Amino acid sequence: MASILHLHGDEPGFGPAFPSLYNVVYCSRATPGVDEAAVQRIIATARRWNPEHGVTGMLVFGSGIFFQWLEGPRDNVTALMSRLRTDPRHDNFVLLSEVEDVRERLFPDWDMELVTSDHIRDVLQDALDSATDAQNVQVLGFLLTELDAGSLRDLDSA
Ligand SMILES: Cc1cc2nc3c(=O)[nH]c(=O)nc-3n(C[C@H](O)[C@H](O)[C@H](O)COP(=O)(O)O)c2cc1C
Repeated sequence: MASILHLHGDEPGFGPAFPSLYNVVYCSRATPGVDEAAVQRIIATARRWNPEHGVTGMLVFGSGIFFQWLEGPRDNVTALMSRLRTDPRHDNFVLLSEVEDVRERLFPDWDMELVTSDHIRDVLQDALDSATDAQNVQVLGFLLTELDAGSLRDLDSA
């Protein structure tokens, strides 16, 4: 099972002058009956709420597993996470990473983009190639390592 990564921003010059972003990554398992149509309804909800609340990211759905990257103002991401944790459309929620005080968005143009699981590695690799924030680089490296080790596919014991 994947471990949880906690990081805190400590770069010099990073302070209130910079808008603080919060980033959360988790995996979960879709509950029975959640199909592509249900996932499209989730995306539609996200595309209404997320842009109004400064939240961007991506959702991967494949083999009955969700993987979601969320980035945005801390309070808004936290509010969304508390709704997500009790959403009956998924269970076996595994927090993979949470990072305070991120300086850059990795998916600034994605209100919530649905990515197929066979593209997840490319998306993470592209994000890593364009990332300059040290914490984003660290999280993406961690996720790619977990992905290559097969840990993100093995959520049944979570
Ligand atoms: C895997 C998954 C990802 C979701 N992602 C989002 C999201 O990015 N934004 C959003 O507003 N709701 C998302 N939702 C839906 C929320 O859990 C919730 O249903 C929605 O925010 C409406 O909340 P409410 O029914 O309490 O008003 C997601 C649900 C699931 C199962």
